[in-house]
Amino acid sequence: MKMLLTGGAGYIGSHTAVALLEAGHDVAVVDNYANSSAEAIKRVEKITGKNVSLYEADCCDNTRMLEILKTEMPDCIIHFAGLKAVGESVEIPIEYYRNNIDSTLTLLECMRELGLKSIVFSSSATVYGDDNVPPFTEGMPRGVCTNPYGWTKWMQEQMLTDAASASASGKREWKTPLSVVLLRYFNPVGAHESGLIGEDPQGIPNNLMPYISQVAVGRRDHLTVFGNDYDTPDGTCRRDYIHVMDLAEGHVKAAEYAASHEGSEVFNLGTGDPFSVLEMVEAFGKACGHPVAYEIGPRRAGDVQDSWANADKAKEVLGWEAKRGIDEICRDAWNWQSKNPKGYSK
Ligand code: NAD
Ligand code: WQD
Repeated sequence: MKMLLTGGAGYIGSHTAVALLEAGHDVAVVDNYANSSAEAIKRVEKITGKNVSLYEADCCDNTRMLEILKTEMPDCIIHFAGLKAVGESVEIPIEYYRNNIDSTLTLLECMRELGLKSIVFSSSATVYGDDNVPPFTEGMPRGVCTNPYGWTKWMQEQMLTDAASASASGKREWKTPLSVVLLRYFNPVGAHESGLIGEDPQGIPNNLMPYISQVAVGRRDHLTVFGNDYDTPDGTCRRDYIHVMDLAEGHVKAAEYAASHEGSEVFNLGTGDPFSVLEMVEAFGKACGHPVAYEIGPRRAGDVQDSWANADKAKEVLGWEAKRGIDEICRDAWNWQSKNPKGYSK
């Protein structure tokens, strides 16, 4: 099948491109390089020995997207494109709402016009909010988000679900019932085992694993652990860290599922196993061969204590489950970081 990946040059998109190509699908990528570079796609081609059709474009540009989609007519769109930094979204909410909401509306308009059927969307466990108790199941009511980024995911889920319902009625200008798959990622980490592609955050990393990796490689002095007074065994927050290649393989299954179904479905993509911040620091130390320096700091505003998935639905319906554990995560993150200490910029 032909898959079109918006934001496909980014962290999760590039790994998913590898998994799709290896599963025998054709891949086209649309990216404006707001947070990535074309180098990632060159490396995807190097890993797989296959070509990717690459378009530099903004997904909010209706005319251009219509042109690209008309050329490609994909069996499924996987919509990764979006701004994703939680702290930045508090500072520039309008840019976040404009980019994330507008890109999704634009895609839906183009799909309606061209009669394209399937879309898989990058949602986030953040939509469970902080009132639900883990493990989170897809049937739980979505919670109250703590930042504009989270609200954009919440709203995009709603928009896609409403569009699927409207298209099913066959009324108005819908040519075909939509198939919408919402994937709620937990904490994507790690890198492709080749060490050729991985996470390349701009500036100071916001997330735990890239921060640990940069301390380990000597780019930063030490990690600050945000709080050790939570009600957990070691006092630090627990998360469901999922290897990015497991996540990528989940997209292959989800896109294949979307192409042969109608309506909307939600799936958690997580492992179901929580690890604390200090457990991650220790595991990374083992992988890189020396301890990762850290100090304990205050809690970070907006952090939930615990977040992990119930991943049963994806296993039952998609036949997918995460296969890689914490040791593979740390091994592959270290392999990428040590081979590319400055990311793609060499
Ligand atoms: P990323 O920043 O590496 O990738 C996003 C890509 O989208 C980038 O290549 C960026 O240049 C591109 N982009 C942004 N706006 C665009 C636009 N208007 N037009 C075209 N391209 C555009 O992020 P990622 O970690 O790969 O995340 C991919 C998706 O998954 C995002 O929607 C993100 O919100 C979501 N997500 C990420 C995480 C995570 O922890 N990484 C967790 C849950 C959900
Ligand atoms: C993990 C744990 C921190 C950095 C975020 C978004 C979420 C989703 C994934 C997109 C927490 C602790 C972190 C550091 C630390 N993204 N930490 N020191 O907060 O679970 O989720 O990314 O959808 O929406 O909110 O991930 O990696 O930032 O933090 O102690 O320097 O590591 O407090 O407990 P988080 P994270």
